[in-house]
Amino acid sequence: MEPYRIKVVEPIPRTTREQRERALARVHHNLFGLRAGEVTIDLLTDSGTGALSAAQLAAAMTGDESYAGSRSFERFHAAVRDLTSYPHILPVHQGRAAERILFSALLRPGQVTLSNTHFDTTRANVELAGCRARDLPCPRSRDLYGDDPFKGGIDLDGLEAALRGPDASRTALVIMTLTNNGGGGQPVSMANLAGAADLCRRHSVPLFLDAARFAENAWLVTRHEPAYRGRTPRQVAEEAFALADGCLMSAKKDGIAHIGGFLALRDPALAERCELLLTATEGFPTYGGLAGRDLDMIAQGLEEVTDPAYLRSRADAAAHLAGLARAAGIALLEPPGLHALYLDAGRLLPHIPPHRFPGHALACALYLEGGIRSVELGSLYLGKEDENGEPVESAPYELLRLALPRRVYTAGHLDHVGAVLAETARNAGRVPGYRIVEAPPMLRHFRARLEPVPGPGPDAGPAAAGHRRQAISRSGA
Ligand code: F0G
Repeated sequence: MEPYRIKVVEPIPRTTREQRERALARVHHNLFGLRAGEVTIDLLTDSGTGALSAAQLAAAMTGDESYAGSRSFERFHAAVRDLTSYPHILPVHQGRAAERILFSALLRPGQVTLSNTHFDTTRANVELAGCRARDLPCPRSRDLYGDDPFKGGIDLDGLEAALRGPDASRTALVIMTLTNNGGGGQPVSMANLAGAADLCRRHSVPLFLDAARFAENAWLVTRHEPAYRGRTPRQVAEEAFALADGCLMSAKKDGIAHIGGFLALRDPALAERCELLLTATEGFPTYGGLAGRDLDMIAQGLEEVTDPAYLRSRADAAAHLAGLARAAGIALLEPPGLHALYLDAGRLLPHIPPHRFPGHALACALYLEGGIRSVELGSLYLGKEDENGEPVESAPYELLRLALPRRVYTAGHLDHVGAVLAETARNAGRVPGYRIVEAPPMLRHFRARLEPVPGPGPDAGPAAAGHRRQAISRSGA
């Protein structure tokens, strides 16, 4: 059972299928365009969507809003320092601000960054600094269904080759993303992290952690890495931070905060350069774009997030939903992590080719069936087509992510999701593919306009497609 009871509640929107059909047509079949009031269960992201604890709200009431040197900063600083051991701690408004500041201070155009997998904003900030972001996921990450518990790691042989090879002098830094969100939310073992740290030290390249989900990674280490079985998640997390030269943190995930993050560093000279950028673009170094109360809530959230009872219940929730998906006949990336499930839409919808976006098709079907919002991680996100819509590049897998906000949904909500998965899977043959009508040149999945394409099923014949096109043109496409 969940290790907390509910003190404040919020009604969740209930809609009819007809309302959902109208809403989906209005937003050109892109779930990012929906109003939150049109979504019953929102599994779009686990970022900034968690429920606050009574202790966090109490801490917020004692927040000190002084411009400089607030008590809130002292509390935040102590919490981050205790956890990470890094002496230089810069608050920022969210994770990507930490990325921009670190890369602006450290990278020179033409350099390369290496990672188990860069998250998409991390990659974008590396590229904005004129550099190349190279992913080196470990080979077992390619096996979607294998039960290896640590598929999130870096390919240590590949890392060594890169640090010795012709590009070695251009390598500016290594980033280990814990857990590996771009790699299916899979964890990194301490052995893999220590191996990466050792290579970085020997080649004098700094190592940073993208620590957005450090506690979830630590939990999985205590469960599956024999050498760490008797340890607490907090001890594992402290050891992980100790292996690196600094970290980037989105506190919207494992800070259980609605906003906020930090950059924490060992190197005083680098910290000084970052602090200048922080002051110019985020705020004075004792608040960094956040309110004092935000700093207090993050400090408290960082304490709560490594509670084994909380992490166990989070893992149980993910495992429960994974069981419901499997029972519905939907394959998913195994083993399931904590922050999200990644469903294999390509396998469920084999009649939809990659450039008709099976993951997106499943996302739309789950919304129509039960008001569930999720996000595609397949060829809409990663692929490319030519001007006629013919495929040029497709994603390795057509996935759909169901992210789990922290402390928000109960087992009853997840059972609803399970029932919707089962009903959708029963009618999988009738789910239509989608075609892009209009899309921006970058980050197209956020803003693309799509329309359903007639398929082989009874609901997807030419008449149905014609009807849908009319609906779209009526709504202004
Ligand atoms: N790093 C990782 C691993 C992330 O998952 C995210 C955000 C960021 C950095 C950026 O942090 O949002 O605070 O600026 N991930 C969210 C998601 C958006 O839905 O996975 P941010």
